[in-house]
Amino acid sequence: MRDDVDNWAEVQLVYSSALKEIGTKLEILNDEFGHVHQYNPIEHIKSRIKSPESIVKKLKKNGYESTIPNMVKYVNDIAGIRVICSFTSDIYRIAEMLISQNDIKVVSVKDYILNPKASGYKSYHLIVTVPVFLSDRILDVKVEIQIRTVAMDFWASLEHKIHYKFEGNAPEHIRRELVECAMMVSDLDAKMLSLNEEIQALK
Ligand code: GTP
Ligand code: MG
Repeated sequence: MRDDVDNWAEVQLVYSSALKEIGTKLEILNDEFGHVHQYNPIEHIKSRIKSPESIVKKLKKNGYESTIPNMVKYVNDIAGIRVICSFTSDIYRIAEMLISQNDIKVVSVKDYILNPKASGYKSYHLIVTVPVFLSDRILDVKVEIQIRTVAMDFWASLEHKIHYKFEGNAPEHIRRELVECAMMVSDLDAKMLSLNEEIQALK
């Protein structure tokens, strides 16, 4: 029995199946949480399959030949899903509920909320595997999950656009101001969280 993926069409099929699996798990958790806590912790979910061009670029950057086995082995974000939560506390709840499911294996965790990047970037990153059941085999497929609040997402989207314009070499004062914006965004998140806690306590 084969336990690999051997062509691009199969890569797409397998990774988009993994995205569906994770997407459904997250929707179920969101619905159940809404039922228990009277609000939905997930604002929205975006998912994407990395383009073949970007995969090849990433392999090249890391000194690997462009082969299917290298893609599967070395590119952890072929399948990517972004979960936009309401409050910071929801990020940890969602992550915890997902990784405690026994078919999910955690490959890596990066907490850029506790340890923001120098750019000011905040998000909770997980790489997990989820089993995909095909007709003749089961594959554990890697998915990159980025979990962030609406405010963190707002900052990350605009920062990405600005940095893209400067091809990553933005002038020093612009970088500094972006870091300041990230701090404002964090203040806003903290304020919204405390308002929500106050309101939840009233109920
Ligand atoms: P990549 O090779 O870019 O995938 O990075 P990595 O393997 O070092 O992983 P990391 O967890 O640091 O970042 C993965 C993804 O997080 C990126 O592809 C972006 O989507 C996002 N990200 C990381 N840093 C920043 C940042 O400073 N600004 C923005 N807007 N997004 C970021
Ligand atoms: Mg990436």
